[in-house]
Amino acid sequence: MSFSEAGKRLSYHLPRIGLSALIVSLASGLILAFYYRPMGDVFRNVEEITSLVPYGWFLRQLHYVAGQAFVILMLIHTGDHFLKKRYRTYAATQWILLILSLCLCFFVLFTGFILKGDKEGLFAGQIMLNLLQAIPLVGRRLARLFIVSGPDFYFLPYLYHCFFLPFLIVYLIRFHIREWLPDRVTFYLTFLGLFLYALWVDLHRDIPPGAMVEHVSGPWFFLGIQSLLKVLPPLTAGVVIPGAYAGLIMAAPATGPAMGKIIHLLIAGLFCLYVALTLKAIVWGI
Ligand code: HEM
Repeated sequence: MSFSEAGKRLSYHLPRIGLSALIVSLASGLILAFYYRPMGDVFRNVEEITSLVPYGWFLRQLHYVAGQAFVILMLIHTGDHFLKKRYRTYAATQWILLILSLCLCFFVLFTGFILKGDKEGLFAGQIMLNLLQAIPLVGRRLARLFIVSGPDFYFLPYLYHCFFLPFLIVYLIRFHIREWLPDRVTFYLTFLGLFLYALWVDLHRDIPPGAMVEHVSGPWFFLGIQSLLKVLPPLTAGVVIPGAYAGLIMAAPATGPAMGKIIHLLIAGLFCLYVALTLKAIVWGI
């Protein structure tokens, strides 16, 4: 099989595997939601799901790996579209909606990370609250729509994660996914792969909220921003830069041939820079 043929096969199969993973994450999330309590001692509740609820540890791991697989494969699929400049063939609004959906996918992962209720989840929630509050004029009001401090800290992320964002994402990509829907074999094989992973690989350790630890990390895709937050003000590192980057990708189809080339290279270059920043944070810490 030639290199380009292998590439074509991957372009064909990966989004279908991603959508199969989405179905598994929606189904496992639905069962978890029966046991999850966003009020009270959330950490204890999650620990009980892991150790007392029948198959709780398995459901958590299945949901975790299916969610990660879905978002990573959507990222690769978007990268594939981008590198082949397929955005030139899409209506501008459709491309904008696809990029918006990808951003929402990362937001689902982020809120899922908060819902763990452990030290890392608490820390991620605090960062989200601080970043939103850093937006001038509207920040405090805007933050209240997503997360509040106090006993209801987990309630809004829970609402967004479980009931609002997944359905909004599916709604936004409903026309696009028609051509990428998985066949039965792809779905069963994906399910089998995720099932075996959840069975064999141990669930990550949740750090108690009161534990003394040297470093608290955010989710993998946030590590680059976390590094930027060390050297830049929160508004610039956490809102302006990611927002401007998403805006640049959304604007790609609207640029003319000469400008388009520069924008294309700029987007690809900034992505590589972010990956390098993330790898640096993983290897050497933040
Ligand atoms: C796009 C779909 C979804 C993705 C990508 C996703 C992803 C995730 C991730 C990565 C976590 C953190 C798990 C961990 O680190 O332990 C999580 C937690 C959680 N998710 Fe989802 N999720 C999705 C949809 C849903 C839905 C539809 C529900 C419920 C109806 C749900 C319920 C939960 C609950 C209750 C938790 C906290 C329990 C735990 O940490 O295991 N999720 N999700």
